[in-house]
Amino acid sequence: MSATIIDGKAFAAKVRGQVAEHVARLKAEHGITPGLAVVLVGEDPASQVYVRSKGKQTVEAGMNSFERKLPAETSEADLLAVVQALNADPAVHGILVQLPLPGHMNSDLVINAIDPAKDVDGFHISNVGLLGTGQKSMVPCTPLGCLMLLRDHLGSLSGLNAVVVGRSNIVGKPMAQLLLGDSCTVTIAHSRTKDLAAVCRSADILVAAVGRAEMIPGDWVKPGATVIDVGINRIERDGKTKLVGDVDFASAVEVAGAITPVPGGVGPMTIACLLANTLTAACRANGLPEPEGLTA
Ligand code: GUN
Repeated sequence: MSATIIDGKAFAAKVRGQVAEHVARLKAEHGITPGLAVVLVGEDPASQVYVRSKGKQTVEAGMNSFERKLPAETSEADLLAVVQALNADPAVHGILVQLPLPGHMNSDLVINAIDPAKDVDGFHISNVGLLGTGQKSMVPCTPLGCLMLLRDHLGSLSGLNAVVVGRSNIVGKPMAQLLLGDSCTVTIAHSRTKDLAAVCRSADILVAAVGRAEMIPGDWVKPGATVIDVGINRIERDGKTKLVGDVDFASAVEVAGAITPVPGGVGPMTIACLLANTLTAACRANGLPEPEGLTA
């Protein structure tokens, strides 16, 4: 038996379409155009690709895109001044500072300088605390995308055993909070977990977010489980560069009930959720109801 393939690419296109519809209504009924500012410091090639893609999809959804590109040697004080200007700009509803920042900068300090209401990455300490206490917050985009895929595939997640492999602030920890919020029994596993195979085998929902190519084989997957693979790893195979996840897809697809592929699974959901968060921030800033189905 082969698992259902969860088509994140198609689902992300649907989310972007919903965002665009809401944006059109905001403009027509309230004269509001949501705006997203992306700040890029330096010339990291992968970051440049992401930032370009974010800008393009923002405009396609009918929103305003603002880009602030700063040289790698920009001082932390100058970057903080850029963030403060964006905080004060009423046309900007969402601010994202692309990570990683150059080594001479304190990322925590910079992220915590963003107005929490505009923190569409959900990385500000206030948003982390709000999420952890089950209050309304801005939610990190990748885990929000995973949650949307899970809800779409499974309906209610209540009472299911969820195992999140990986404990990063960007994915693992907020993912665990979101699953807890949907009444899963949640385990966070990581590189030091004893008998990781057995822990993974207990999962009805297995979220892999470790950043190690194909480290989770099919025989760690409970038959029928829903597998969400957040990994995007570049490997060389048969003389070609390939993108693979943290799960060994070929063996896991034979055991799982459903699984996200790499590429075309979780990846496209991240920017779709960034657009959804920007829309949510614009609605909240104007005292309007939030878009249904696009928040946690
Ligand atoms: N770099 C890689 N992923 C992300 C992300 O989700 N947000 C930001 N700001 N930077 C990133």
